Amino acid sequence: HSTPELAALSAAIRDVPDFPKPGILFKDITPILNDGALFQQTIDTLTAAAANHMPNKIVGIDARGFIFGAAVADRLGVGFVPMRKKGKLPWQTLSQSYALEYGEAILEVHEDAILPGERVVIVDDLLATGGTAAAAAQLISQLNADLASFIFLIELEALQGRDLLGETTITSLLRY
Ligand code: PRP
Ligand code: MG
Repeated sequence: HSTPELAALSAAIRDVPDFPKPGILFKDITPILNDGALFQQTIDTLTAAAANHMPNKIVGIDARGFIFGAAVADRLGVGFVPMRKKGKLPWQTLSQSYALEYGEAILEVHEDAILPGERVVIVDDLLATGGTAAAAAQLISQLNADLASFIFLIELEALQGRDLLGETTITSLLRY
C-alpha cells in the first residue's frame, strides 16, 4: 500500500480464515478500532476523501459502517443517516432488498432522513460484491437525493463490487 500510514492500517487488519463459514477469509477491522492512533488516522483519511465531495449528509450502513460514518460526519459537522437492516428503524421507512450469498436482506432508511437534492456520501467498512452499497445507493435515489461518492476502508477487488455501483466516484483506502 502506497504510504506508511496505509501500510500500518493494512498490517493491523486481521485475516480470519473460515469465518463466518468455511472457505471465507474474513477481514477483521477491530484491531484498527482498538488502537487510538490507527483509528484516528483512519477517520482522518476517510474524512479527507468525503470532504472532497462537500456532502450535506453522511450515510453509514448497518452495522460496521456506523462506526466509521458517524465519526466522519462528526468531523465534517454534517448530519449522519443510519441505513439499517429491516425492522430496526421506528419511523416511516423506504426499503430496498439486496442479494446475499444465500437469500436476500433488506436495508431501510427513514423517509425524512435525507431531503431531495441533498448531497450524500455513503461510508462503509468494506466493498465486497457491492450488493449492500448498491442497495444504499438505490435508497438515496428513491429519496431524490444526490449521491456524490462511495467511500470504503477496504475493497476486495476480485469480487468486482465496483461494477454494481455505476458511474459514482468510489474511494477505497485499502485494496486486496
Ligand atoms: C459486510 C460489510 C459490508 C458488506 C459488504 O456487512 O460490513 O457492509 O458486508 O458486502 P457486499 O459488498 O458483498 O454487499 P454485513 O452485513 O456482513 O455485516 P455488519 O452488520 O457487521 O456490517
Ligand atoms: Mg456491513
